[in-house]
Amino acid sequence: MVIILMDKRPIGVFDSGLGGLTMVKELIKLLPGEDIVYLGDTGRVPYGSRSKATITKYAHQDAAFLAKYDIKTMVVACNTVCSVAFASLKSGYDIPIYGVIDTPAGIAASKTKNGKIGVIGTAATIRSGKYEEALKNINPELKVHSVKCPLFVPLVEEGWTSPDDEAALSIANRYLGELRKAEIDTLILGCTHYPLLSSVISKVMGDKVALVDSGTETAKYVAEKLQKNNIINDKNNIGNIRYFVTDSIHRFSKTASAYLETDVHGKVEQVTIE
Ligand code: DGL
Repeated sequence: MVIILMDKRPIGVFDSGLGGLTMVKELIKLLPGEDIVYLGDTGRVPYGSRSKATITKYAHQDAAFLAKYDIKTMVVACNTVCSVAFASLKSGYDIPIYGVIDTPAGIAASKTKNGKIGVIGTAATIRSGKYEEALKNINPELKVHSVKCPLFVPLVEEGWTSPDDEAALSIANRYLGELRKAEIDTLILGCTHYPLLSSVISKVMGDKVALVDSGTETAKYVAEKLQKNNIINDKNNIGNIRYFVTDSIHRFSKTASAYLETDVHGKVEQVTIE
């Protein structure tokens, strides 16, 4: 006898801004029946240039907001939060909480052929050394080169993401030059925003360097876990997605609709987080 359990509660996802939509897009693709509650703390982005104490405080406020929606699991899409506050978040809730470091690290370790892996992220993510730690735990022989790229987030927020954009190319060349010299063959995009810049990054790094998107890879892992644990929602439903932001609804709705290729106007609400 096959027992099919179903859990109709939504999945909660949060990020410091709109970058976590890379994760949401993949979750919708893999688990179209799931309801999702997304929080983008657009009023306080970026987190990556802030102190550990501030990032931890914001992370707990974001998680507490999502927990009010009776979620069955929480996914922390923000690499910065996962780098500095994940352990304290995990211990505060009795639902499964997934972060974005270990899965992409595992994928990168299995993809590399020459053992040289690059990691790019915000200042806080790179300072934390969490990706390096995760990679070395998998294989201590790996050579890991980490570079902070703080100007990539405003480039994405501004929409300057085309591979022909001169400003984007010039900034990417400056940040990524040392990774080219280090001859990495695999690069972890350790920030929610960076997949939106992947054509610029690929142009600079060359097409022989494999890019690993932390959000997409983690979404695949979470989908697999929910399926394995038999707690997915009814597949015959089309899931309802609610978006909460802490700044202008208009700007988020426009960018999210373009990125998700579906109109989210009317599904976005502005909230105050404290
Ligand atoms: N969401 C952040 C991350 O993934 C990037 C934006 C920020 O600095 O808040 O690290």
